[in-house]
Amino acid sequence: MEKQAARELLDFINSSPTNFHAVLNSKKYLLENGFQQLFSGDVWRIEPGGKYFVTKNHSSLFAFVPGSGDMAANGFKLICAHSDSPTFRIKPKAEMTVEGRYLKLNTEVYGGPIMYTWFDRPLSLAGRVLLRSENPLKPIVQFVDFNRPLLLIPHLAIHFNRTVNEQGNPLSKQKDMLPVLGMINDHFEKEDFLLRLIATEMQVNPADILNFDLTLYDVEKGGLAGLNEEFISCGKLDDLAMVHAGLKALVRSKECSRGKILAIFDNEEVGSGTKQGAGSPILRTIIERIVFSLGGSQEDLHRAIHHSFMISADMAHALHPNYPEKQDPTNHPLINGGPAIKINANQKYVTDGDSAAVFENICRMAEVPCQTFVNHSDMAGGSTLGNVLLSQMEMRGVDIGNPMWGMHSVRETAGTQDHHYIIKAFTTFYNM
Ligand code: CO
Repeated sequence: MEKQAARELLDFINSSPTNFHAVLNSKKYLLENGFQQLFSGDVWRIEPGGKYFVTKNHSSLFAFVPGSGDMAANGFKLICAHSDSPTFRIKPKAEMTVEGRYLKLNTEVYGGPIMYTWFDRPLSLAGRVLLRSENPLKPIVQFVDFNRPLLLIPHLAIHFNRTVNEQGNPLSKQKDMLPVLGMINDHFEKEDFLLRLIATEMQVNPADILNFDLTLYDVEKGGLAGLNEEFISCGKLDDLAMVHAGLKALVRSKECSRGKILAIFDNEEVGSGTKQGAGSPILRTIIERIVFSLGGSQEDLHRAIHHSFMISADMAHALHPNYPEKQDPTNHPLINGGPAIKINANQKYVTDGDSAAVFENICRMAEVPCQTFVNHSDMAGGSTLGNVLLSQMEMRGVDIGNPMWGMHSVRETAGTQDHHYIIKAFTTFYNM
């Protein structure tokens, strides 16, 4: 089994507690590998063969390498993934006290976490902090990661809820899920307590902190597991595993006549409808800027889009050892059986016969096995960013992902070998 790629993935996720940190680490990796950062507000001067990236909101990132050939006739090869994962966001005025002794924080759920998995484990806080600057329209942006066990969400003892292990124990997002930060004394000042804590951590003046985007995360590091370390046990595999594989493939791939793009969108878990999400025109705008900056015309842009192919890469559901009946009888991917092509008759996934055939060809060339995922016909199933993106850009595309268990658990499980496979498949795609 090839474990090196999975170990690198674990390092990437273990140092990426939030979407912001995932983008920071992606940016660092690209800079180390000869990519140059562009800024949306600047004039772009792009050269064929150059390697570039641009970020949006510090939480989405778009890397690209223009091809050496005729852009209009060759188009682009795109891999799209997402930086965000379900979590709990700290609300403003978050400090709440109980009996004047317990200090807890008010939070709001982001996306669809499996809330039970967040109980009774050491949690920490990380995210983006906005600091006062000369220009009121442009606060200074910094990032913070407390990176130590700081909070926990204690579960109610079984003695107070004897039916807790039975079906149908609903959880209140407002009552059951608030994390405890510590014990306090009589001299405790609730006003701006969290803000002062952040200021101390960042060594800045509390008065300079204007606002923040902070979320909770599990501080326990992910690792390999299983008899032969065949499993990756880690939070945020959905979708940082695909982000990591896309980055590795882009950096590793050879110079090529067709252009290459890696798009890491934010906010997939909440429907993609933000300026940095797949529902915005951001990717189309970037493609336009690449084409025009290289001297292409409007006609060249339309031709380039027509000749492009997009892989929407988001994790897939593997056959569960305890619930085989939840999956389709003939299309249920297994862990370590290779990437799964996701298919849905009602087009929740963008895959069709044509794009599935292309992805199968890619896997064949990469000598990687390939599986198929279709929902059990009585289950609603999920969707991803693929159809959100392609409903505004008429490009061919396929939805795929590596199979995993426990999607949206605070700690998910995927296959060690699968991570090696997907990097091979993506590299082959970028080399075509
Ligand atoms: Co996802």
